[in-house]
Amino acid sequence: MSICVPFHGFTLYSPKGQSFKRLFSSHFINHAQVIPFPCSLPLSPLNLSEPFRFSREKALKPIRASITPTVETPKTSFRDKTPKEINVLVVGSTGYIGKFVAKELIKRGFNVIAIARESSGIKGRNSKEETLEQLNGANVCFSDVTHLDSLEKSLGNLGVSIDVVVSCLASRSGGVKDSWKIDYEATKNTLVAGRNRGASHFVLLSAICVQKPLLEFQRAKLKFEAELIKQAEEDDGFTYSIVRPTAFFKSLGGQVELVKDGKPYVMFGDGKLCACKPISESDLASFIADCVLSQDKFNRVLPIGGPGKALTPLEQGEILFRILGREPKFFKVPIEIMDFAIGVLDFLVKIFPAMEDAAEFGKIGRYYAAESMLILDPETGEYSAEKTPSYGKDTLEEFFERVLREGMAGQELGEQTIF
Ligand SMILES: NC(=O)c1ccc[n+]([C@@H]2O[C@H](COP(=O)([O-])OP(=O)(O)OC[C@H]3O[C@@H](n4cnc5c(N)ncnc54)[C@H](OP(=O)(O)O)[C@@H]3O)[C@@H](O)[C@H]2O)c1
Repeated sequence: MSICVPFHGFTLYSPKGQSFKRLFSSHFINHAQVIPFPCSLPLSPLNLSEPFRFSREKALKPIRASITPTVETPKTSFRDKTPKEINVLVVGSTGYIGKFVAKELIKRGFNVIAIARESSGIKGRNSKEETLEQLNGANVCFSDVTHLDSLEKSLGNLGVSIDVVVSCLASRSGGVKDSWKIDYEATKNTLVAGRNRGASHFVLLSAICVQKPLLEFQRAKLKFEAELIKQAEEDDGFTYSIVRPTAFFKSLGGQVELVKDGKPYVMFGDGKLCACKPISESDLASFIADCVLSQDKFNRVLPIGGPGKALTPLEQGEILFRILGREPKFFKVPIEIMDFAIGVLDFLVKIFPAMEDAAEFGKIGRYYAAESMLILDPETGEYSAEKTPSYGKDTLEEFFERVLREGMAGQELGEQTIF
């Protein structure tokens, strides 16, 4: 069952709810912990204890060109409140990392308002009901982050203030236009809409690879990062945390089942062209959740890897064969093959512009085959495993063991061809 408040095309759902038809209205505001769901208490009721200082006049004329908030920043900082009094807007809440982030924030007692699409997940295969089940404990709001109007209307109809925005949005394809649409524009929409509802902190899931931006999605992310930092410089009351993780487990698990079936482990060059410190979804989610309240993470760009030493593809393959108790069997692919393919695609795209994404995917593949997901020293141009911070407890070896036992369910790369 779900809670559903149809209102001007906007719907608020709570996964554990029973149907009700009660609209938010001004008399709910100012009541301590008013739960606007009489039949079913969402696990994390929206916190209405903080008076919502919302200027109606300004709200009717939302500022678009700039990201100046139309809501007066609350005098008491959200940092003085307890988690259950803090409203955290999570966007990208249905993604590989986003759903773990939503769960972690719920576990820590925050009021999570999760924005989702009506068909979410890889290729939109999850229905509303499945999304509600997945985000159990959050107040799920079905809306459209790609349209500022829709997002503002949805949040406006909720009638609550937002304290913190956590964005785990990302283009599902990594294609050129989609990257700009999601990693930049939609993410910026959530900043504008969040600020207009009073948000004074923004946690951004970015990527460590933006240090060396050669791909469109990296440029899109960097542009947003720069605007976020500028916001904080211009407004004392606003802070950010930019989280730049190294490789996710899902990006490294693609060969586990093939090797289990007797195939060789495929790697580029000698298997030592790049390295990373893989991090699990739950460890990264925990780190991102820390960013909501930890002072030492405010106004900082935070590169982060998982526990243990950095691993090259060669070492990842060796781990896999060791677990399987087999002699290592590698298939080495010269990196020049990728350079040739990219050259051909770049040539073709000049004649057939529609091949733009195919050319971009080739570049993405080349990038991850040769660039390390570690801190880059801008002076030497070298990557440093030592300088890349580690966090968490889940190891790649444990992940490989789990995939060998249970398969890759939940670890699919989805629409992304490469990463
Ligand atoms: N893969 C790696 O190893 C790695 C390493 C470091 C950093 N990163 C970065 O981590 C970030 C998150 O990755 P992830 O794997 O968690 O991403 P993901 O699973 O692809 O999730 C993307 C999220 O964005 C939403 N989204 C995408 N297009 C949308 C649209 N048109 N409208 C509304 N929502 C949309 C998705 O919603 P739906 O569910 O509705 O599609 C989903 O919630 C990315 O920025 C990536 O660059 C990745």
